[in-house]
Amino acid sequence: MNETIPDHIRFIGVDDSADMLDKCNAKLKDAGFKRPFSLKVADLNKGVEVSNASVVVLCLTLQFVRPINRERLLKNIFDGLLPDGVVIVVEKILAEDSAFNRDFIKYYYDMKRRNHYSDMEIAQKREALENVLIPYKLSENITLLRNAGFSHCEVFFKWYNFTGFIGKK
Ligand SMILES: C[S@@+](CC[C@H](N)C(=O)[O-])C[C@H]1O[C@@H](n2cnc3c(N)ncnc32)[C@H](O)[C@@H]1O
Repeated sequence: MNETIPDHIRFIGVDDSADMLDKCNAKLKDAGFKRPFSLKVADLNKGVEVSNASVVVLCLTLQFVRPINRERLLKNIFDGLLPDGVVIVVEKILAEDSAFNRDFIKYYYDMKRRNHYSDMEIAQKREALENVLIPYKLSENITLLRNAGFSHCEVFFKWYNFTGFIGKK
């Protein structure tokens, strides 16, 4: 990956959990990451400072921002991107047709069991996320991006109730 990213590019990580940023710091060190980076504690509900950015990644994070704050956050990001800059979003989503939601969630939990999570762990995680993780449909997420100004939007990944999509300025 480093071969294709110019040397002057800096990385900035934002999370409202200092513990998560400590883990991020440790992982970057373990991986021998040599580029300049900074990690900042900030609540994305209050918007985010972005300037002169080429790429902004929201990986499984927008879903935790209160719905009322999501459009403003994406507008902040749009305004802080360079021309041709992109936002890359990975989210847990609701199926477009609710008839598929139950099946998709079942396949997800089956995958967790195959990866040695116990039923207790799966249930605890589900309870912890209730009313905290608020998923949108993929179409609602794309509308959110378009309303923030991203005129080019495309899906690059979808696996049941998880998706990745990109918006270009
Ligand atoms: C599923 S984790 C994803 C972590 C990381 N982005 C990754 O891909 O490995 C969700 C992250 O969102 C963070 N988060 C939740 N609400 C947030 C908020 N309002 N502002 C900033 N970060 C938030 C959590 O602390 C957690 O680290």
